[in-house]
Amino acid sequence: MKKILVINGPNLNLLGLREPELYGARNFAALQAYIIDCAATLGVQVELFQSNHEGVIVDKIQAAYGVFDGILINPAAYTHTSVAILDALKAVAIPTAEVHLTDIATREDFRKFSFVSLYAQKTICGKGFDGYKEGLEFLAAL
Ligand code: DQA
Repeated sequence: MKKILVINGPNLNLLGLREPELYGARNFAALQAYIIDCAATLGVQVELFQSNHEGVIVDKIQAAYGVFDGILINPAAYTHTSVAILDALKAVAIPTAEVHLTDIATREDFRKFSFVSLYAQKTICGKGFDGYKEGLEFLAAL
């Protein structure tokens, strides 16, 4: 069974509370339950990880080497700033799908560029929770 690491970056733990007009009314627990449900349907094993700290995310990506077959990541704000997360993904070279709840291409200019997209084999934007399902499907099919 494929093992997929799902990483959610900063402030995604505040889903529901956080700008619901953008990110929706469902909370983070609902997102986690949704991901677990999708994984069960697809027949893949998932580990869920969330951190508000860049270095902790880098440590988790490094520790994924030799353990996980795929990484599904919503780097949140670090998408647009983190060379360290990009470098960690390149270092472990684990197939990676990048997901964003919103469509970062149609928001503020500073959200248009993604460092993680320079490595990720697939990027899914603007599909809300369903984007996580699409990312898992992509990684499961590799
Ligand atoms: C986000 C988009 C980012 O620009 C933002 O900083 C987030 C969430 C999304 O899922 O749409 O925290 O990654």
